[in-house]
Amino acid sequence: MTPTFDRMTFCIHTFGCQMNKHDSERIAGMLEGLGASMVETIEEADIVVFMTCCVREAADVRLYGQVASLKNVPLRAGTPLSKRIVAVGGCIGQRDGEKLTEQLPHLDVVFGTHNLGSLPGLLSAAVADGAHHVEVLESSADFPTTLPTAREHSWAAWLPITVGCDNFCSYCIVPYVRGREKSRTLEDIAEEARGYVEAGVREITLLGQNVNSYGRDLYGEPRFVDVLDAVDATGIERLRFATSHPKDLTDEVIARFGTLRSLMPALHLPAQSGSDRILAAMNRRYTREHYLGLIAKLREACPGIALSTDIIVGFPGETEEDFLQTLSLVEEVGYSQVFTFIYSKREGTPAAKLVDDTPREVIQERFDRLVEAVQRCAYEANQAELGKVVDVLVEGVSKRDGTMLAGKSPKNQTVHAPLPEGRSVDELVGAVVPVRVDEARTWYLAGTVADGGVTRP
Ligand code: 5AD
Ligand code: SF4
Repeated sequence: MTPTFDRMTFCIHTFGCQMNKHDSERIAGMLEGLGASMVETIEEADIVVFMTCCVREAADVRLYGQVASLKNVPLRAGTPLSKRIVAVGGCIGQRDGEKLTEQLPHLDVVFGTHNLGSLPGLLSAAVADGAHHVEVLESSADFPTTLPTAREHSWAAWLPITVGCDNFCSYCIVPYVRGREKSRTLEDIAEEARGYVEAGVREITLLGQNVNSYGRDLYGEPRFVDVLDAVDATGIERLRFATSHPKDLTDEVIARFGTLRSLMPALHLPAQSGSDRILAAMNRRYTREHYLGLIAKLREACPGIALSTDIIVGFPGETEEDFLQTLSLVEEVGYSQVFTFIYSKREGTPAAKLVDDTPREVIQERFDRLVEAVQRCAYEANQAELGKVVDVLVEGVSKRDGTMLAGKSPKNQTVHAPLPEGRSVDELVGAVVPVRVDEARTWYLAGTVADGGVTRP
């Protein structure tokens, strides 16, 4: 029997990566399709779903605290339920399964990363009998493509092309919880992309833990470049992808940054460290020299390309010398954005067995130096945009000022501009407008809409 959730409300709290955000959109799509209404806050919600991340310890700890504190939140007036239903999914659900309900007795449902589609059935069983319902699968037989999606923005879509990861970086728990890498077929991807274009989507972001190894399991060789070509051919306006592993980024893919109409001039290429010794200990399987070679080729194929990265500080055994290598890599590349992480020990990973005796204050001090360098690089990268006209895909208004449009440039920079006279925000959301940049700050650009015009409605 198909479950129904008529008159019920739900909210989803999402932690972690874009894959989780996308999975949350799928959950929202399913529950709305079965009659439930999405709300923003826990107070208004009859059903609360946590989409969790266990990449670092802090998110783990927070989840347990948040679920525990729900006990004290009263149900809304008019709810058809006698008790709020609480579900935990995503990576912590996958990793901890039954253990979660032992530690959090008022938790009703646990599901994993391979069985999103089971959630409505599990929720409905919990509503009916008030008991715990836990379902975690080892792996999914097929790529989960058939679930509906309630997208956060009408103009942008995430499109997963792989799930799982085969890389086993020594610090990372993802391969253990998300399982082996599985690719979707090219036909399936192209069909979903075509559907988005027909629905008016302007920007597609291809998703996978390592999109560059796409297709190895299906076709015996990576065919990521074919995905790029196929999605470009749908006529999509803007194409992006995340995440890339430097060891698998091919010359063919790099060349597409110079030739493929829709591919935006921005790439997230996690370096993790600038020290060969640490890169080897991390099992990253490339050297600093190889990484810098990729950056040189990318800049040759696409001058001005915006580069971003992930860096981990305080990996076990990292010395001051290793850290200085990382700092100099960041400065040499001149990233537009760097996501900085302090190493977090994850049980079950090879790095968890390494001697980890760098004092906390030393790591914090390195982290602060890195953040300072990152800000300097981001500021400098943005200066290059002064005086240029950039095409901005409008997302809404600035959080601080409701009369300022906010959107993204092709290089993924946040751009603000005053709303042109006679135009409403609603009519511009999802449109591309040309903005002349006259101010370049560390984390955003500001300017005015050029010629008072909207290039493409
Ligand atoms: N500790 C700190 N950062 C980590 N990441 C992955 N695992 C860990 C860990 N154990 C970071 C990496 C990765 C990003 C998504 O999270 O930089 O690229
Ligand atoms: Fe983790 Fe490495 Fe896979 Fe990224 S590539 S998900 S860091 S194991």
